[in-house]
Amino acid sequence: MKKIVITGGKELHGKIRISGAKNAAVAIIPAVILSDGVCRIENIPNIMDVNLMANILHQMGATVNRVNKTTLEIDPTRINKPEAGYELVRKMRASCYLLGSLLGKFSEARVALPGGCDFGVRPIDQHLKGFGVLGAENSVSEGMINVKAEHLRGGHVYLDVVSVGATVNIMLAAVKADGKTIIENAAKEPHIVDLANFLNSMGADVRGAGTDIIKINGVKHLNGTTYSIIPDQIEAGTYMAAAAATQGDVVLQNVITKHLESITAKLREMGVQIEEYEDCVRIRNSGRLHKCNIKTMPHPGFPTDMQPQITALLSIADGTSIVNEAVWDNRFKYVDELKRMGAKISVEGRIAVVDGIESLNAAPVKATDLRAGAAMIIAALSAKGTTYIEDIQYIERGYEDVVEKLTSLGADIKVVYTEDSVIHHTA
Ligand code: EPU
Repeated sequence: MKKIVITGGKELHGKIRISGAKNAAVAIIPAVILSDGVCRIENIPNIMDVNLMANILHQMGATVNRVNKTTLEIDPTRINKPEAGYELVRKMRASCYLLGSLLGKFSEARVALPGGCDFGVRPIDQHLKGFGVLGAENSVSEGMINVKAEHLRGGHVYLDVVSVGATVNIMLAAVKADGKTIIENAAKEPHIVDLANFLNSMGADVRGAGTDIIKINGVKHLNGTTYSIIPDQIEAGTYMAAAAATQGDVVLQNVITKHLESITAKLREMGVQIEEYEDCVRIRNSGRLHKCNIKTMPHPGFPTDMQPQITALLSIADGTSIVNEAVWDNRFKYVDELKRMGAKISVEGRIAVVDGIESLNAAPVKATDLRAGAAMIIAALSAKGTTYIEDIQYIERGYEDVVEKLTSLGADIKVVYTEDSVIHHTA
């Protein structure tokens, strides 16, 4: 078994470069299917989820050429079936974006039901509602979702909940539909804006992305393009939290500080010093962190994808903090792992009450999902002793070169391979 081993207590110092945004990349790669030419995508993070998505397109008939570590050239013109293979697709949540892009291209799609991190129920009713407004019927058979439209046409969609995935999928289906689509109560995340910019660079007509009303005028053709993905807001936030946890002094290069505002505001409230520059940010912390309350919200609120990492920080802050998870039903599974390290946290439904302690102690723990894994890393960097983190495949899904980046900042971190688990969990 592969594990990350961290001996805590080293202050992080130095500079690292933030990679391209995972959640933008996993929307933009399927969007390439809509193009009638070759797309060159730069600043792609070299992580499992992105490589999986590129492999899915390859299996569907696209030519995928890795120009260098962070650039892919994809020629989708040989994709001629509106179907995506079962095995790879069911491994990741974002594969449901293939529904939107195949529907946009062929007016029909057949894609396996999506997998991904487990935070309770992850419905796609809003995606299907949007497709319905565009004229597509849906059905499920043999673990696959089928959507099909006789005539894909624009329509007015009002989302009942703000959903990143539904907003992406409806945009993908609508860019080549006949006429105008309006998405109200749309998600406003930076990766939604990035997807809109990518689609527009192919010749689409998408306006209003980043506000809660997106207007799309369907076009007949989309051309190939060259596009560079935005930096990853959550990767940056994770390293900000790691710097704060270790009393470090770290500069993160290749960031968009505007995207980090909600994270920066909370870290400042906790006593962390943050200096913002044009495309980098410096994080310094020298004292005990202060308590603070967090409520996760869709953008521009505090991102749910930073909730576990910030809870790890609050577990060593001075005082009692309340963390309210308002996006997902069940995103506190990792709390049991933090408790192994001595954290004092009680969870009741969507609320965690975090009683900060002086310091955490090393323990064998596991990553229960991607961001939970990031929280374990932050906890371990600050803890006394040597922590073993299992199930690091979740971390590898979303963080490029995490061990190398932290090593370059002075962390004592490595990957080891062992025969079997050191953790004995009870049911
Ligand atoms: N929801 C519905 N119906 C739907 C879709 C969503 O009720 O049809 C609900 C969900 O149950 C949830 C809320 O709406 O309570 C928000 O879900 P959303 O659709 O926005 O989430 P997602 O698109 O599945 C993306 C990110 C997640 C991130 C969420 C929220 C990608 C690939 N994934 O998921 O990222 O937590 O938005 O910001 O973009 C991560 O990167 O670690 C990650 C899990």
